[in-house]
Amino acid sequence: MRGRCLRSFWVFRLLVLGSAAGGFFWFSLVFYSNSGTEGNSQAHLEKTAPLLMPQICREKKIETIMKVYSRDWIKQEDYITLLRSELNNKCKGVFNAIVTQTNSPLGSNITYDSEERITKVTPKLFDTFVKDSPFVNKTFKTCSVVGNGGILANSSCGEEIDSAQFVIRCNLAPVGSGYRRDVGTKTNLVTSNPSILVDKFGSLMEHRRSFMERLDTFGDSLVLMPTFAYRKNTAVTLRVLYTVHDFESPARPVFMNPEYIRNLARFWVTRGLKKRLSTGMMMASLALELCDEVHLYGFWPYPQHPRDCRPLTNHYYDDVKAKSIHAMPVEFNRLLQLHSLGVIRLHLEDCSPRPKQTHLSFLLQLR
Ligand SMILES: *[C@@H]1O[C@H](CO)[C@@H](O)[C@H](O)[C@H]1NC(C)=O
Ligand SMILES: *[C@@H]1O[C@H](CO)[C@@H](O)[C@H](O)[C@H]1NC(C)=O
Ligand SMILES: *[C@@H]1O[C@H](CO)[C@@H](O)[C@H](O)[C@H]1NC(C)=O
Repeated sequence: MRGRCLRSFWVFRLLVLGSAAGGFFWFSLVFYSNSGTEGNSQAHLEKTAPLLMPQICREKKIETIMKVYSRDWIKQEDYITLLRSELNNKCKGVFNAIVTQTNSPLGSNITYDSEERITKVTPKLFDTFVKDSPFVNKTFKTCSVVGNGGILANSSCGEEIDSAQFVIRCNLAPVGSGYRRDVGTKTNLVTSNPSILVDKFGSLMEHRRSFMERLDTFGDSLVLMPTFAYRKNTAVTLRVLYTVHDFESPARPVFMNPEYIRNLARFWVTRGLKKRLSTGMMMASLALELCDEVHLYGFWPYPQHPRDCRPLTNHYYDDVKAKSIHAMPVEFNRLLQLHSLGVIRLHLEDCSPRPKQTHLSFLLQLR
């Protein structure tokens, strides 16, 4: 036990301090250090539960993940404090995640994060910025960060998600009506990618009612957009702001700060995440700065449910495949690691108890 704690601490230090050597050595250390018993467990599973273990679930990768995931989750306050102060120092999400009149004064330059471009803060642009960061002097006890993974379909997690003090959702994913039971409705911050604005809402160049109907489901939530990622993002996300004003919507559009994105990328690149971070990963990182306890739902990058192996759609609301510029499984491994260290709480199980014995409960019995 002591050995395990020490080892976890080592791994955590590496996670926090970054590893110049890079690579996956330390990662393997956590994941495969208990592999001595793996063979036996597998044999036992095959003997007792052949029908409940379809072929696909015997995939080593998922089995290994579930083994790590199924250990008791114990919140580790000191690790949380350590990682939070590291993020506070390096990324300053509390002040800098959002472009404000304070961090981006009139006449200053904003440097885009995904292409070579600088824009000057003109009076007109300055007027679109919020005055101060909405996160200053605020800490939330519990936060739910909702990824959009198909694992949320039929999860019954809505109530649990909504019970958090602060709820973050991604890419204007639908809530309410048919989705309420599984994903809830409460939203304090929702992100919006330009692609959904362009593909689903005609870039807000034509009728904007359908866009406003979607936006209304999020109430007075912050609507966070990557306005200064690519040049093409800027105009369309500004139109969101103008539309919100024209329709007198309570929604609060805000712009992601490219400086924050750069700092966050720097933070994670030394921890093995070399591709552009997904929105989910950015929001999980932000939540780590804002919340005492971070709960993640809908983060699962594989096409089968880890519990009963049923096939999953790509999102809980559709099966549109993502353009793969992100490295979701690699990000997931980092999140799983933070889960196993008691820093965040990943939720892969359904939220209502199911009487049927499942893959997960078998694994739990085997601990
Ligand atoms: C902003 O960028 C321009 C062009 O790159 C440069 O000439 C100017 O000095 C910069 N201004 C500030 C305030 O940094
Ligand atoms: C945050 O708290 C500090 C210290 O209590 C105070 O000086 C500051 O004005 C507060 N900032 C905001 C934006 O409320
Ligand atoms: C959810 O449950 C319903 C009813 O049992 C079923 O028809 C549907 O296929 C399930 N959806 C997913 C994604 O598992």
